[in-house]
Amino acid sequence: MPVSLAVAKLMEEYNRFSSTTLNELFDKDEKRAEKYTIEFSDLMYDYSKNRFDDKVLDALFDLAEEHNLKARINDMFEGKKINVSENRAVLHTALRNFSGESVYVDGKDVMPDILRVQEKMKVFSDAVRSGEFRGATGKKLTNIVNIGIGGSDLGPYMVTTALRKYWADDIECYFISNIDGTACAEVLKRINPEETLFIVASKTFTTIETLTNARTCREWLVKALGEDAVKNHFVALSTNAKEVEKFGIDINNMFEFWDFVGGRYSLWSAIGLSIALAVGYDNFIELLKGAEAMDIHFRNAPLRENIPVIMALLGIWYNDYYNLHRYAVIPYNQYMKFLPSYLQQLDMESNGKSVRLDNKKITDYATGPVLFGGAGTDVQHSFFQLLHQGTAAVPVDFIIPAISQNETGKHHLILLANVLAQAEALMKGKTLEEVEAELRASGKNEEEIEKIKYNKVFEGNRPSNMFIIKKLTPFTLGMLIAMYEHKVYTQGVIWEIDSFDQWGVELGKQLALKILPELESDELKKHDGSTENLIKRIKQIRG
Ligand code: F6P
Repeated sequence: MPVSLAVAKLMEEYNRFSSTTLNELFDKDEKRAEKYTIEFSDLMYDYSKNRFDDKVLDALFDLAEEHNLKARINDMFEGKKINVSENRAVLHTALRNFSGESVYVDGKDVMPDILRVQEKMKVFSDAVRSGEFRGATGKKLTNIVNIGIGGSDLGPYMVTTALRKYWADDIECYFISNIDGTACAEVLKRINPEETLFIVASKTFTTIETLTNARTCREWLVKALGEDAVKNHFVALSTNAKEVEKFGIDINNMFEFWDFVGGRYSLWSAIGLSIALAVGYDNFIELLKGAEAMDIHFRNAPLRENIPVIMALLGIWYNDYYNLHRYAVIPYNQYMKFLPSYLQQLDMESNGKSVRLDNKKITDYATGPVLFGGAGTDVQHSFFQLLHQGTAAVPVDFIIPAISQNETGKHHLILLANVLAQAEALMKGKTLEEVEAELRASGKNEEEIEKIKYNKVFEGNRPSNMFIIKKLTPFTLGMLIAMYEHKVYTQGVIWEIDSFDQWGVELGKQLALKILPELESDELKKHDGSTENLIKRIKQIRG
């Protein structure tokens, strides 16, 4: 976001507006909530509890226009190579394109391949679920173990957890990601090899964690059932057929995807096989249809009515003008408890960049914020203290279904009351006068009041978005995920960065490969003093 007319205008707006509080904005305009709420399908987005007025919004939309946002959105959907540093198109949207229209990359329509793999996923997931495809000893495959990491783990893990209510009764899903042997050990001790399907999910099929875990699981299976059993118990999801074969998985048991699908955008592709197995192919398609609905909205809605665009612009307003480089996502829903971890990769791996598309180093503005979160109400009892009384605000996204899938007694009403109360408390706060009056009314004397009163003040004016979905379904979940994907892209466009590469993960991988042989032998290469000392000490401790 280099200095430009819109940036200068926003700076002016910040100087004019920043001392205005949310309470003042609501006092001034009793229609504010209505005015800044968008209803789309089964989703309601209330962004009225954010720090802006019409003039700020105008300046933010000018910023979007200045970056040709509409055209840049089309570039993505049309398969232009917007992942510049890897020279790739970015077409996770084609995976959920049910329009019947072609999508081209380098003059080739990608839709026939996508539809072919979807058909293969349907046939396979139906066969496993019905028991037509069985394990080597004739048993039904009811334990699904996804072995993958990053985008090959977090998406399927988050979605299968979120859609737990839709799982077939006899299916259990497990996810092995960490290279820590504990991840494998704890899953393998729970499952019966005869009933287990291992899914090795890796876009590159070279990721050390995934391949090491997959080898361990393969050895375990072969030990129990023999080499011949591998073809009934192992499938691969990858773009790299050569490596899949090298690993020893038959190409017929591979579900492919393509370079135009980024790892953290891949749950809609073959990487979603564990989802289809858990909830059934039709529900997997519903998830994709929810995402498609959000794609159509993002592509066609005017910027001023466009949910991901508004979210992105408000995020930029906080990040670059208020200097709030953090952001919390709190689903008030137990099934969605892994959404923040999933979004962490989506947002931080996409926009945690400091080089622009024109190769210039970014020195004068901030890009992606730190994202964290957890499920409400649990997190009210952990980090919410900081949200309410920490020294600086943290913009929050609250997400809640209006109707629970488990309407038990008063649980859901209490949950709803809490999410509304938290957003209200963050915004309204509690003044010193209110605190003093409250303490007096409770019978405290002036000395006691003086001692405690400042600790009980809530500054307020802390912004939040509220997302209410009717119910958590595959469709609404698909919409929500796609909404965040598009928010991330919009911000990347405005920050002028490549949101689809991830070079920042490479250096650590390279160094780990250098250190590994040093841990295995007497060899010690040149490192910094601290690393050398740590290597020596670890070797001593391990004997
Ligand atoms: O280390 C980062 C990363 O490249 C992610 O972007 C990706 O989702 C993950 O590793 C896993 O990669 P793969 O699917 O190729 O095993």
